[in-house]
Amino acid sequence: MVFGYALIPTALKVLKMKASGRLLSLLKSVVTMDARSLQQAFGIDSTLRFETHPSGLAQGIVKTSECEASFFLHGAHIAHWQPAHTDSPVLFMSQKSYFEPGKPIRGGIPICFPWFSAHPTDSSLPAHGLARQASWELMKTQQNNHVVSAVFELSIDSFDLRYTVDFGSTLQIALNIVNCDSQARDCEVALHTYFDIGAIEQVSVEGLEELPYLDQLTKLKCPAEGTAIRFERETDRIYQGTADEILLHDGQRSRRIAIEANHARSTVVWNPWIEKSKRMPDFGDDEYLRMCCIETANIRENRIQLEPRATTTIAVRYAVAT
Ligand code: BG6
Repeated sequence: MVFGYALIPTALKVLKMKASGRLLSLLKSVVTMDARSLQQAFGIDSTLRFETHPSGLAQGIVKTSECEASFFLHGAHIAHWQPAHTDSPVLFMSQKSYFEPGKPIRGGIPICFPWFSAHPTDSSLPAHGLARQASWELMKTQQNNHVVSAVFELSIDSFDLRYTVDFGSTLQIALNIVNCDSQARDCEVALHTYFDIGAIEQVSVEGLEELPYLDQLTKLKCPAEGTAIRFERETDRIYQGTADEILLHDGQRSRRIAIEANHARSTVVWNPWIEKSKRMPDFGDDEYLRMCCIETANIRENRIQLEPRATTTIAVRYAVAT
């Protein structure tokens, strides 16, 4: 293992102990790992290459007969996945995203942890937790048949995280969380996936129609709608439940994306629509027309509670049918 890599988990473990505000500023100063060293340690022929993104962040690029994909160690962020049998990306990336240490990437799959949305008691802390803007350590890469796997780790706020990603004709991700504290702890988690779609008015989401939801915009609990979700205005919903399979129908592209979650008891559905898009500095004014988020989560009343040394894994698998 290259010397720089070894330092990162140790440094983070030392840092994880105390105030999260301090932790955040220290996380920001963690040195970004360099693409050439990553290539030497983890590259797999022409199948997995590491490059320096124009922003300076190190990026892994996957090319197999089954898919193309890319990821950053920053946030263990999957930025792109497109199986060979489809002709457009599955994951949406904003043209205005930041790619900077200490800032989340807008699009792809950010990992929200250990809290969702605003911090419950300290408004100076960033929304959706620290994991999506921290530099993760890449532990392992491998190729098995046509699937390329990458394993990332991060120690944060007395939790050890291990994130396994399998890039193939399907995309599978699993986040394992261990409570390393001597006391029971709780945490929230969301795999905040941005889907790239042809046209928002031709999209519907099937699978959640029998569940009530919390409308985050009005803060009201709403009864089950009984019909598939369609986006016609700003939409920001927390469902305390999920379905064996949620289907995202993309009418314009004549394809559907199947979302199969495991150990997830919450689902968030989000589209910022017009005014919120304009307010977000890292999101294009019209980009709401080509994306929606369906997030696999355990949040609010379904937050995770872990005894000391206890562990849990939240996972999700995406597949595209045309
Ligand atoms: C969603 C939330 O999960 O993320 C929304 O439900 C929020 O309320 C959205 O606006 C984006 O959050 P952020 O912090 O990435 O701008």
